[in-house]
Amino acid sequence: MYSLEDEKRADAAAEPHPTGCPLGKELTEKLRLISRQYCEAEGGCHGPDHTERVHNLALHLGKLMQARLDILSGAALLHDIGRQEETRAKGRICHAEKGAELARKILKENGLPEEKIREIAHCIEAHRYRNNRKPVSVEARILYDADKLDSIGAVGIGRAFLFAGQVGAKLHNHNSNIDNTASYSLEDTAYREFRVKLCKIRDRMLTPEGRRLAEERHDFMEIFFRRLEREINGSRDSGPLADEPVSE
Ligand SMILES: [Fe+2]
Ligand SMILES: [Fe+2]
Repeated sequence: MYSLEDEKRADAAAEPHPTGCPLGKELTEKLRLISRQYCEAEGGCHGPDHTERVHNLALHLGKLMQARLDILSGAALLHDIGRQEETRAKGRICHAEKGAELARKILKENGLPEEKIREIAHCIEAHRYRNNRKPVSVEARILYDADKLDSIGAVGIGRAFLFAGQVGAKLHNHNSNIDNTASYSLEDTAYREFRVKLCKIRDRMLTPEGRRLAEERHDFMEIFFRRLEREINGSRDSGPLADEPVSE
């Protein structure tokens, strides 16, 4: 089980996240700016800070797997630019498909060769792993993992509370029957998000490093929600947390 000691060891061993510019500084900044314009309107859990974290994670995974970092960088920066359209259409448009379409146009205007445009568009189109859009290339699998990793662990918890706040949900609802709770309701808490979606993510990773990081982040979420439960119940005990998983 993940502990504070593991966290300290990980901190000590961690190299700074690569935030290089495999596409060149000028083009990277241009794409970053374009991406920011699209994602700022969406804000909240899917604002430009999410894009930057996914970009860092994708480059980290990409370096370990000797993937094409230029493809990954472009794909990560533009991966959610279609989200605004999806929100506007109340989910009838898939933001991954829309994002790939927008990205093709942006990359063409910026003079990227057709082969790179195709590779980047594939990553964006497949980053949700839905229907017939599955990540085939190594870069697409990495982008999928990087995006998923940003929805779990400490960041995932933070994003889940941010979302709960946006829909006006309460702080915690451990005693509710999750099956009887609805999205966008008072019961759509961070804990519900953990039980319904986030706890399943570690089993869906597609790369070895993605799986390793997901395991760690998952353990941290388990500890966090047990601790939350303890504090909600008024416990003053700050001793070690039991190893059993968060109960249903
Ligand atoms: Fe997305
Ligand atoms: Fe995303």
